[in-house]
Amino acid sequence: MEKKYYAGIDIGGTSIKCGIVDGDGKILVKGSVPTGEADCAVIAGDIAELVSRLERQAGVKAEGAGIGAPGIIDSKNGVIVYSPNIVWKDVPICAEVGKRLGVPVKIANDANAAALGEKMAGSGKNYDDVLFLTIGTGIGGGIIIDGKLFEGFRSAGAEIGHQVIRQGGEKCSCGRDGCFEAYASATALIRQTKRAMQNDRDSALWKICPDLDSVSGKTVFDGAKAGDKTAISVLDAYTGYLAEGIANLVNILRPEAVLIGGGVSAAGEALLNPVREKLGKIVFGGMEYAPVKTELATLGNDAGLIGSAFLVMD
Ligand code: BGC
Repeated sequence: MEKKYYAGIDIGGTSIKCGIVDGDGKILVKGSVPTGEADCAVIAGDIAELVSRLERQAGVKAEGAGIGAPGIIDSKNGVIVYSPNIVWKDVPICAEVGKRLGVPVKIANDANAAALGEKMAGSGKNYDDVLFLTIGTGIGGGIIIDGKLFEGFRSAGAEIGHQVIRQGGEKCSCGRDGCFEAYASATALIRQTKRAMQNDRDSALWKICPDLDSVSGKTVFDGAKAGDKTAISVLDAYTGYLAEGIANLVNILRPEAVLIGGGVSAAGEALLNPVREKLGKIVFGGMEYAPVKTELATLGNDAGLIGSAFLVMD
């Protein structure tokens, strides 16, 4: 039988990534273009051009294209309904991209798509009940129940980043105060690191990153590794916020596994170990009866585009 290929597209705050993916979720080629704050026709044009360029590079034609995008996505009708981090509203992206590529186009929330990718081709393969988190500009969530993606009513659910963990706390892009995302996203971690640096001019973090504008999600992990007290305390508070939000979700869903992806997950065990330890202390009933594994999502930053490709496979 002839092999089939699909385009997987992951729309993020700064770039639109695309990969040509085979039926097993293997990427042949990938590339990206910057995310402009342009209108739907321009975004669709950018996407279609990127897909065509990659098809040429791979020497294959995609049977369909799948898109993952942040925010509330009407996956049935192919519309980005509301996306606070990119500021898009009611964007009929599937029709526009479909018109240009001439193949079926499907869309889902970016984290939902990534969770599907992990379930089909990554670290979720061996579990039926999975909570997937992607920690980047925002916090996205994907919930797999009985092996199937749970999207909620009109595919508007699983917005796990927008649960309040500190009433009256930090402002969130969604308009509420104290959301999980405002404390545990990469954006939040960078803010916490910068604040701590400003309060401690002697911190070794200044040696690691002399320029505040260049602080990244990695800076604090490097500081903690070097034994800097300020970095260790930022990380302790951060993993505490992360554990708090995850514990709320574990108490509701009790998944077999919590899989963590997104940029911050690149820190690996330095992130996971403290989260595991904290979760063990606060999860309802403890971890003996129904232990929850906390693991890294194995597809890394490609989970979104691989998962998006799975949206259009039969
Ligand atoms: C959005 C989610 C999205 C996540 C990751 C959040 O701010 O509300 O829909 O999945 O960021 O991009």
